[in-house]
Amino acid sequence: MSRVNILNHSLLTHKFTLLRNKDTNVKDFRNLVYEIGRLIAYEATKELPMQEVSVETPLCKTNGKLVEKQPVLVPILRAGLGMVEPFLDIIPAAKVGHIGLERDHDTHLPSEYYCKLPTDIAEREVIVLDPMLATGGSGSAAIEFIKKRGAKNIRFACMIAAPEGIEVLQKDHPDVDLFVGVLDECLNENAYIVPGLGDAGDRLFGTL
Ligand code: PRP
Ligand code: URA
Repeated sequence: MSRVNILNHSLLTHKFTLLRNKDTNVKDFRNLVYEIGRLIAYEATKELPMQEVSVETPLCKTNGKLVEKQPVLVPILRAGLGMVEPFLDIIPAAKVGHIGLERDHDTHLPSEYYCKLPTDIAEREVIVLDPMLATGGSGSAAIEFIKKRGAKNIRFACMIAAPEGIEVLQKDHPDVDLFVGVLDECLNENAYIVPGLGDAGDRLFGTL
């Protein structure tokens, strides 16, 4: 069964409160996504495969460790794009793939409209990025598409999750660990997260 890491931090609580506010404008919303993204990136990259190396300090030789291979970040378009920059701040040499998914407004089912991933994705840790995990349909489909293209070691990082979405990801992809900024209460009849923040993509890009 996958591990679900719900981040618990005073600064996250503070920033989420500002982010949720319907009066927060596009500029502040973007900045908050960036600030929250960096805190999540720190947690989501806590354990990466390492290789032993020797290093010579000014005093002596010693053993150290380096990250074995730089991970691949895969934002789910559109809203996942907001999490790329803060993750790159923490892991600047990471590769970036893209997957485009859109939820149908009536059925809430995701369909793929774009996918471009590094060719050596099978050899790297993959971190799927999406601010919102609602029904879990988009996240699960994205992971499925990425697995079909060879990825083996995948983790999923989001800002806000509903219990329903976590259950779906755990059922569909028990091998994928989750990193969640905050766990919300439930979904409403339109499959929006409650209390949530509304439509993350629209708020991030000002398309409300
Ligand atoms: C949002 C969000 C997730 C998805 C979550 O994207 O960014 O990808 O919904 O919902 P789910 O867990 O029920 O699938 P949306 O489809 O609205 O596209 P957008 O990012 O282009 O706005
Ligand atoms: N997608 C969003 O952007 N927000 C939600 O609450 C659910 C899905």
